[in-house]
Amino acid sequence: MNNSIQVISKFALDEKTAKRAQELQACALAAKQTLESGSGLGNDFLGWLHLPSSISDDDLRDINASAAQLRSECEYVISIGIGGSYLGGKAVIEALSDHFAAYKKADGPKVLFAGSNIGEDYLYDMMDLVRGHRFGIIVISKSGTTTEPGIAFRIFKDMLEKQEGKEFAQRNIIAITDAHRGALRDLATQEGYATYVIPDNVGGRFSVLTPVGLLPIAVAGFDIRALVAGAVEMEQGGDEQVLNYAITRNALYQQGKKIEVLANFAPRLHFMAEWWKQLYGESEGKGHKGIFPASVDFTTDLHSMGQMIQDGERTLFETVLSVGDQQHEVIIPSDDKDLDGLNYIAGKNVDYVNKMAELGTRLAHVDGGVPNLIITIPALTERYIGQLIYFFEKACGVSGYMLGVNPFDQPGVEAYKKNMFALLNKPGYEEASAAIQAKLKN
Ligand code: PA5
Repeated sequence: MNNSIQVISKFALDEKTAKRAQELQACALAAKQTLESGSGLGNDFLGWLHLPSSISDDDLRDINASAAQLRSECEYVISIGIGGSYLGGKAVIEALSDHFAAYKKADGPKVLFAGSNIGEDYLYDMMDLVRGHRFGIIVISKSGTTTEPGIAFRIFKDMLEKQEGKEFAQRNIIAITDAHRGALRDLATQEGYATYVIPDNVGGRFSVLTPVGLLPIAVAGFDIRALVAGAVEMEQGGDEQVLNYAITRNALYQQGKKIEVLANFAPRLHFMAEWWKQLYGESEGKGHKGIFPASVDFTTDLHSMGQMIQDGERTLFETVLSVGDQQHEVIIPSDDKDLDGLNYIAGKNVDYVNKMAELGTRLAHVDGGVPNLIITIPALTERYIGQLIYFFEKACGVSGYMLGVNPFDQPGVEAYKKNMFALLNKPGYEEASAAIQAKLKN
């Protein structure tokens, strides 16, 4: 497949790992077959598998129309959600945006994100920012009962209704939730908000190509048609890349490489790594197994985490997101005095230096015992980001089955919620509350 993201695994494979990778071929093909036939664990959550090719023109037109409504009336749009109801949209918007968009004038609203933490000052500062400005809200929660977005929505809904009136709020609040169940569905019905559905068979972390991600991305002014088209390309022709990645990372894991560090050399990709961490962490970390997903932004983190990666415990491998073309060129100027000694790179563009840093880093890390996988991305455009999303999703499903876990549930995330509700004296948690109080006394 030309003009597409590619996985290069040769720097990750010493003799032993290469042999293990060879042996894992059959296991990977079986895992892919299990995924595609829907015969594995969590098979009621496979709606994402053929999602890109099933998105119709009408679906996209409808989402673009809702985005146009918000863009026409609002200076800010607050996208409220957490986890899978947050990270995909945030990641794509960041990957495609001007780095300083927040400080520049634009011809559409600025997209803000709330409900992904319980930071009081964070919410205060956002309220301060939007006070006196017309804003809209996209509230996203599949369950419709998650605490963090619930609090944020209650606050901003109240503020918007008081500030702009009920009618404006009704026009400019869009809810994305379950088709039938949950508090948000009931509230949206009662208030008469426009709604989109998160399909039952698509879990949060696999939902970026549903309205969950597509609506905020469209509001930010990006081409969701091209994004989906890129994902379709991977859905229809990306299996070789998927298998290569899934096999290599499992072979490395079995050689004692328990941590995968996703490294980028493009500041725009910081949140793609955050999205990836949720996708792989929540999918694979089960039964006391799983590759721990970590991430670094290079060259920034070479001056902090670089030492640990080069020389710390040898339990890491690294996957480098390697971007081809930059959108702009900046040439390093010559200087008569050359006091900083940089004239040797005068006349070169900055990305040339970055690429040499990338190559130098990869070589150093391989020499230091950190195998390298490379995922090349031709450029940061909607199309290639769409490819990357689907590629990571499918590889995650295959990889999870290879590992022997259910990649589509997340029972472990309930533990903190139970304690938090008990500590907050939520009705129904009296027993848990008493148990915690007893524990805290000891
Ligand atoms: O991937 C997941 O399932 C989670 O990260 C959820 O998306 C997250 O907990 C938010 O849940 P909800 O959309 O129900 O508010």
